[in-house]
Amino acid sequence: MKIYLVGAGPGDPDLLTVRAERLIKTADVVFYADALIPPGIIALTRPDCERIATKSLTLEAMLPLMIQAAQTGKLVLRLHSGDLSLYGAIHEQIQALHRAGMTVEIVPGIGAIQLAAARLTTEWTVPELVQTVILTRTAGVTPMPEDLAALAAHRATLGLYLSARLVDTAQAQLQKHYPPDTLVAVCYRLGWPQEKIWLVPLTEMAALTHRQRLTRTTLYVISPVFRAGATRSHLYHPQHRHLFRP
Ligand SMILES: C[S@@+](CC[C@H](N)C(=O)[O-])C[C@H]1O[C@@H](n2cnc3c(N)ncnc32)[C@H](O)[C@@H]1O
Repeated sequence: MKIYLVGAGPGDPDLLTVRAERLIKTADVVFYADALIPPGIIALTRPDCERIATKSLTLEAMLPLMIQAAQTGKLVLRLHSGDLSLYGAIHEQIQALHRAGMTVEIVPGIGAIQLAAARLTTEWTVPELVQTVILTRTAGVTPMPEDLAALAAHRATLGLYLSARLVDTAQAQLQKHYPPDTLVAVCYRLGWPQEKIWLVPLTEMAALTHRQRLTRTTLYVISPVFRAGATRSHLYHPQHRHLFRP
């Protein structure tokens, strides 16, 4: 008895993995967060597939439905946005499914942070400039065990999730360590028809968010790479020798 937890990518059906697409097209029952999974992905399900929107369901309401369907031999999957390893709330789901004797298989997806790099035609790790990526959020109902300003002190590429409603606090924390002219990519609904991306100095991050009325599905990426000059890796440098290029 298996339940698939599937990463649906940021929104564009073209960015599903081959495995995710195959499962979506063959599933008997699909659970999906209606606010996060665009209709284009749900449209791939079979006409007789049972589609259950989960936005207004608690985990307690959802789990028995998932378990019951799997117990009757149905192919059951739960769709999560992006990749499930980030803010997917799957930890407690996996534990409860295991307690109920279910096998869980996770199918990874493309996360918003990967699509943001692709859209901006960039790399989050540029040699000699930044070699670390921090993925974090600001505290909301979920408290933050880490301190955003302390994370900012690394001046790494920093992907900030779930923070549009708390952008003023976030900007103030980030400005404690990033230079004010550091550029921030404000990425709204990547991979959706409404996608928009702005590149602004850190000092304008909150003002832009308010002006554009962004409250949800916004990823901020604060990074030195947006001002990177000419620099290159050792890997493909003619003077660098390694196992495959002695
Ligand atoms: C519950 S988290 C899910 C993250 C998801 N698991 C991922 O890997 O992208 C939702 C937050 O992720 C970011 N996010 C997810 N999908 C996005 C998209 N299509 N465009 C912009 N930001 C997105 C936003 O910060 C949003 O508030």
